[in-house]
Amino acid sequence: MNFTGAAIVAGISGWPVKHSRSPRIHNFWLKKYKINGVYVPFPVEPSRALEAFRALPALGITGLNVTVPNKEKAYQAMDEVDPMAKRLKAVNTITVRNGLLYGTNTDAFGFQEALREKLPKWGAKASPAVVLGAGGAARSIVAALQEEGVSDISIVNRTTQRAAALCKDLGGRLTPVVWNNREKALQDAKLLVNTTTLGMNGQPALSIDLAALHPDAMVCDIVYTPIETLLLAQARERGILGVDGLGMLLHQARPGFKAWFGPDPEVDETLRDHVLADLLIARE
Ligand code: ATR
Repeated sequence: MNFTGAAIVAGISGWPVKHSRSPRIHNFWLKKYKINGVYVPFPVEPSRALEAFRALPALGITGLNVTVPNKEKAYQAMDEVDPMAKRLKAVNTITVRNGLLYGTNTDAFGFQEALREKLPKWGAKASPAVVLGAGGAARSIVAALQEEGVSDISIVNRTTQRAAALCKDLGGRLTPVVWNNREKALQDAKLLVNTTTLGMNGQPALSIDLAALHPDAMVCDIVYTPIETLLLAQARERGILGVDGLGMLLHQARPGFKAWFGPDPEVDETLRDHVLADLLIARE
């Protein structure tokens, strides 16, 4: 890292924030594009999040990513938001413009681009789709699917009321499904996305038989620790196209970097390997 007093400053706020991979991503790009800038972690307690965001212009900080649990607080703190942030009532990327806070949500974009990397016109081939989970990640992915024209989406969640609330909030052809019917919901589905924490290191396994999926289906897991989850291994064994969770993490970072530092940064194998190396160290 090489920066001076003239450096552009951006970062990530979360609570906790120390496990975030975003500094590794943005500082890789800063070095690659030889930019006088720095990207740092800000541990921001949820109860002080509004105060912290409102202070950004006064501190001369150019922008901030926001992660769990502060995305809804960030939405409340903004002077202006983009349509996706408004739809999700959650902001993950803040840019200071003329002393005002502009909020966007790039999670849906990150998901769309990660799939686009594997299959350029995936949206036309992804209906019906099944989404496991109904948290914040599920909401941004459902919004992403809808934006790509995926018309028929089942939301399968352990807590059924949460799936129903998601369907009501986002509208369109969304169907809540009880957790025990998850395999039935896969019948002829063209896309399955896991947004739950199941399968993550230290969490219980995700138990699901993929037999009912359409033969041309895609399977996407947003879990990236481990990088190949059991779900993705099952998909691979069946010859089904799999998309791991690292792509979404890398692509969601691009709009913020561009807004704060200038270049539209590239997501390539070198960056993937740089972040993967860190994920492997974290396991030891
Ligand atoms: P995020 O905002 O990152 O999506 P979250 O809101 O904590 O995270 O969502 C986690 C998801 O994993 C939820 O859908 C959760 O189901 P509930 O809504 O029923 O809590 C799901 N999840 C976590 N542990 C699970 C388990 N043991 N079995 C089934 N689903 C689980």
